[in-house]
Amino acid sequence: MLIDLFHYLTTPASWAHRRGGHLRESVLLRSRSRRCRTAWAPHLGRARALVAQACDGLAQARTCVVLGSGLLDDVPLDHLAARFAEVRLVDAIHPWPTRWAVRGRANVTLVTDDLTRPGAVDAHGGDATVDLVISANLLSQLPILPVGRTGESDDHLGGRIVRAHLDALSRLDARVCLVTDVEQREEDREGRLTDRLDLLHGETLPPPDETWTWELAPFGETARHRRLVHRVQGYRDWHTALARSKPA
Ligand SMILES: C[S@@+](CC[C@H](N)C(=O)[O-])C[C@H]1O[C@@H](n2cnc3c(N)ncnc32)[C@H](O)[C@@H]1O
Repeated sequence: MLIDLFHYLTTPASWAHRRGGHLRESVLLRSRSRRCRTAWAPHLGRARALVAQACDGLAQARTCVVLGSGLLDDVPLDHLAARFAEVRLVDAIHPWPTRWAVRGRANVTLVTDDLTRPGAVDAHGGDATVDLVISANLLSQLPILPVGRTGESDDHLGGRIVRAHLDALSRLDARVCLVTDVEQREEDREGRLTDRLDLLHGETLPPPDETWTWELAPFGETARHRRLVHRVQGYRDWHTALARSKPA
């Protein structure tokens, strides 16, 4: 609790991102990721490996842009910083662990932006020097605060936000690596499904390069006899996955 308060009070954040809830979400993410370190390790390992593979075979390695860099738990920063001339980390909030991790790295910069802002993805990923854009476990997070704010007054807002991010990624010239959770399953101790949530608000994705599960909340984290398991989809090259899924 005290450590959360420290992060809440001292993490640099704009008034809009404090008031809008981004800082609170970032602080909660940091503490949950530390509590659930063991349960999350397989997911984070898969995500990091997929992102590292997405760098293979690029003709050039000038700039890499990471959208939703957050705590960098699913981003192999050493690999990216060694490979690219420049790495730009974009998030609404850059928590202290990330600020500490980039200290002294001359080719890594932090960029603060709201990635639901129209044109934000194009502005960061559309630069002619960008060779790789990584959307790192961001997609399902984008609607959470806006949908929470509007309550039930707009049933389609979540889907529009998800679709806008996917469309923006699809427009980029750079290679795009996408890692996202798509579904939440709540299970009891007998493995029975007790609830299910579509994290992409009805939007569907093409078949992924890889899929795996992420035990987001093991038993005891949110409820004693329930756990939350997310299904994750990973794309080393989003443009290729899209082209593959289109009818010939
Ligand atoms: C599940 S976390 C994944 C973070 C990161 N990839 C990691 O390994 O820690 C989602 C991230 O998306 C960011 N985020 C959510 N909504 C955003 C928005 N509208 N604009 C920019 N970043 C946002 C959060 O601040 C958070 O860092």
